[in-house]
Amino acid sequence: KLEKGYIWLSVIVLVAFIAAITYSSVVLAIVVPGNDGQIVPKPGETLFAAVTRTKPFDQPGVRQTGPGTYDVVILGQAWMFNPGAIELPVGAEVTFLGTSIDIDHGLYIPGTTVNIMLLPGQIAKQKYRFTRPGEYRMICHEYCGMLHHQMTGTLTVK
Ligand code: CUA
Repeated sequence: KLEKGYIWLSVIVLVAFIAAITYSSVVLAIVVPGNDGQIVPKPGETLFAAVTRTKPFDQPGVRQTGPGTYDVVILGQAWMFNPGAIELPVGAEVTFLGTSIDIDHGLYIPGTTVNIMLLPGQIAKQKYRFTRPGEYRMICHEYCGMLHHQMTGTLTVK
């Protein structure tokens, strides 16, 4: 009898979890940063060479993709972001596309929900809409060695 109770309890907990996940993804439209593929070097090729020949990472920076929509293509490397300074108009609907050319880095923009890992050759993707003008800081939030603390950049919205 007691066992039956436990089984029912575990079923209820499971249903509650599934409901919570469904609620967050459907109702709240929470989008977890996605993995959008992997850049694999050819035999004998460096990761740097592989990334910098792969679109869109052959041309890091901002590009407009439609009315009010932009791609920000960003590379992490020890110890800087490329580009290190980004400018966007207020209201810009941005898709960040990021990867690393060497070791594990991260991209965190305080005051926003932009928080992605920049892993070697792995393509990370996250959307964010900049509704407030200002000077935002881009921070590497994954320890990446000696000058990790200096790996910052600026994103200006005006
Ligand atoms: Cu790059 Cu820490």
